[in-house]
Amino acid sequence: MKITVVGAGNVGATCADACARLELANEVVLVDIKEGLAEGKSLDIWETSPISLYDTRVTGSTNDYSKTAGSDVVVITSGLPRKPGMSRDDLINTNAKIVKSVTENVIEHSPEAIIIVVSNPLDVMCYTAYLTTGKKNKNKVIGMAGILDTARYRSFLAMELDCSPKDIQAVLMGGHGDTMVPLPRYTTVGGIPVTELVAKDKLDAIIERTKKGGGELVNLMGTSAWYAPGTAAAQMVEAIVRDQKRIFPCCAWLEGEYGLNDIYLGVPVKLGKGGIEQVIELDLNDDEKALLNESAGHVREVMNVLDDMKMF
Ligand code: LAC
Repeated sequence: MKITVVGAGNVGATCADACARLELANEVVLVDIKEGLAEGKSLDIWETSPISLYDTRVTGSTNDYSKTAGSDVVVITSGLPRKPGMSRDDLINTNAKIVKSVTENVIEHSPEAIIIVVSNPLDVMCYTAYLTTGKKNKNKVIGMAGILDTARYRSFLAMELDCSPKDIQAVLMGGHGDTMVPLPRYTTVGGIPVTELVAKDKLDAIIERTKKGGGELVNLMGTSAWYAPGTAAAQMVEAIVRDQKRIFPCCAWLEGEYGLNDIYLGVPVKLGKGGIEQVIELDLNDDEKALLNESAGHVREVMNVLDDMKMF
């Protein structure tokens, strides 16, 4: 098994580190355009192997994609992060070109790889990567957002309830932006519906905090988050390389599911060695459907910006 992580910034390095610690492959290759950065970070990660006790070999390369050849899974984290005051959508002009060029390089050397996109604006960067592959296999171009967004939601609920985050399960749908749709009706704490444990006003506040969870961190740190995004991407890699068939919210290309067509959007899926093995269709009520459609409308606006760039 071979995993490539493109982008040796904070998110990429965190993801590579998590993949190595979990021993998800014999080899993890980190690639970056900045001279020496991937070599340096991969060496630093590899030097933890005698301490953390793993034998996954971690190597780095400055933009030499021949080193990534034959990867089973490729995680794309390349692109600019947000600065305070920016929305994820403000990154499209720069990041679309980067994600297109990275995807071209990736598929030249690993045509069969499953691609996990992490770059922002997430839903439209998935669309960019999928278009770059020539729409070859929708199940093999997947976006990481829902695991991160539900992790934030679950961590906030664990604080509110003073309970273990392990016991909190949740579904969240829609785009990776302020219109994302956390679903309290599908949120449980040790099997108990969250609505029986948290008062509505408190739950509403947690949902609002979740929607702006990325921005909260950008405001605190002056740049976007990395521990939770990088770890969330590694959890997707794990589900694929271990064929775990886990059920996660991921960004998937929809062809009729939820009444939506030709759009990347967060939905619950089954993740295994084939990538997305199933999109799970929930029986949403009218309010939930309206929120999902609003979120899809927002993603389509950003897709239109990409289409207007005439890159494809
Ligand atoms: C965030 C970025 C990774 O939500 O989109 O932190």
